[in-house]
Amino acid sequence: MPTNRTFTMIKPDAVSDGNSGSIIKMIEEAGFRIVALKKTKLTPERAGEFYAVHKERPFYNDLCQYMSSGAIVPMILEKENAVTDFRTLIGATNPANADEGTIRKLFAKSIEANAIHGSDSDENAEIEGNFFFAHIEQF
Ligand code: GTP
Ligand code: MG
Repeated sequence: MPTNRTFTMIKPDAVSDGNSGSIIKMIEEAGFRIVALKKTKLTPERAGEFYAVHKERPFYNDLCQYMSSGAIVPMILEKENAVTDFRTLIGATNPANADEGTIRKLFAKSIEANAIHGSDSDENAEIEGNFFFAHIEQF
């Protein structure tokens, strides 16, 4: 059974630029319900754990430094087809290739400082949500 949840985090560049509110507004207007949300900061080690799948990539160390450089806003979101629809809403990894009207087209600075993360599968959405939220309150 596919879940109807995905995981996201607003990345340090977007948080420090004061774009969290605008991004959350776009997420809600696109029909996603916020299940869990907080503001926190990763250590380089925790960032490395989160992005362990990219360990062998040349940009891994830079990515861990960047992701621990400031506050982030992780969220669990709910909607039908959450994972796929959210990836569409955020746009391509490199903002230069992102479609008009996507979050990355509007707010990302570069392929690295690209404003927002979105899970790439239902399985990873659950793993990543659990990484940040030990307990989810039901409302
Ligand atoms: P996430 O939603 O953050 O997982 O992005 P993604 O799924 O669109 O891309 P991917 O998982 O391939 O890469 C993870 C993150 O690593 C990206 O969002 C970027 O922040 C960073 N990244 C990816 N490719 C590059 C690159 O070529 N150079 C640099 N410096 N960073 C990169
Ligand atoms: Mg990814």
